[in-house]
Amino acid sequence: MDYQGIIEEIAVLVEPEFGKGKVADYIPALAKVPADKFGIAVQTMDGACFQVGDAEEPFSIQSIAKVFALAQAYPVYGEALWKRVGMEPSGNPFNSLVQLEYEKGIPRNPFINAGALVITDMLIEHFPKPKTQMLDFIRELSGSDDVYYDYEVARSEREFGFTNAALVNFMKSHYNIKAPVEQVLDVYFHQCAIAMSCRKLASAFLVLANHGVLPHSGKRMLTQSQAKRINAVMLTCGFYDEAGEFAFCVGLPGKSGVGGGIVAVIPNELAIAVWSPELNEHGNSQIGIKVLERFTTMTGKSIF
Ligand code: DON
Repeated sequence: MDYQGIIEEIAVLVEPEFGKGKVADYIPALAKVPADKFGIAVQTMDGACFQVGDAEEPFSIQSIAKVFALAQAYPVYGEALWKRVGMEPSGNPFNSLVQLEYEKGIPRNPFINAGALVITDMLIEHFPKPKTQMLDFIRELSGSDDVYYDYEVARSEREFGFTNAALVNFMKSHYNIKAPVEQVLDVYFHQCAIAMSCRKLASAFLVLANHGVLPHSGKRMLTQSQAKRINAVMLTCGFYDEAGEFAFCVGLPGKSGVGGGIVAVIPNELAIAVWSPELNEHGNSQIGIKVLERFTTMTGKSIF
């Protein structure tokens, strides 16, 4: 399959889409990212990488980090993890508070903010240095040290993180948060502020295409069942209230972030990462979704 030719063609096809979305502006550190940044990286299981545009430039991965947090916590807690967070799509925006009240402080899934905050609390309980160990974990998955915290983004997240503070406080009142609220928020805001490139993201997600084993080292990071389940939750919950449409149009498990990144996985074959900061009304990359829709159409590959 000529992946290089396909992504080059897609890059031209999506050009008319620029200008239709809106760069995240809830924090100044993201609002200043140029809207015309654009990269695609395809990393195959056999070690080949195909890329176009700004695929080597690190950007704020935001909620894509929620997948790394789950992948780090799941082997530690096993199935007990699902007692504190659900596995159902929320059908609501990523930072919604309403459902949490009805469901007594148990978030619907680990990819909405409330769910990621609970997973963060679990990481704090287990890992003595959660921030450092999160970075180490992602570096191991991606096979690269070029993964870091953007401290300006982390500071901004803290300064404007009132809704996240409300979510943690509410869950604490339901005894679903153990660590101090400030510590959970601090680790979570850093998680949102992880910076890495499309190329490194695609490499890091190959573990989910390879049933829990790192293709570059052969090391098992997740059981086969855990990898399957993370993919399943990405498919049903990775795009919030747009998850159905993403499954419908793209047909792959994936995860988005408000920095404009999207990563998706074709089991046994590859991972693909796209970066384009203009977002649609659901907070997902406008052009990123178009790129992935074209990719599965042109390659004829999806999980269905
Ligand atoms: O925590 C927040 O609300 C932000 N840092 C945004 C997280 C995010 O990327 C949601 N996903 N699309």
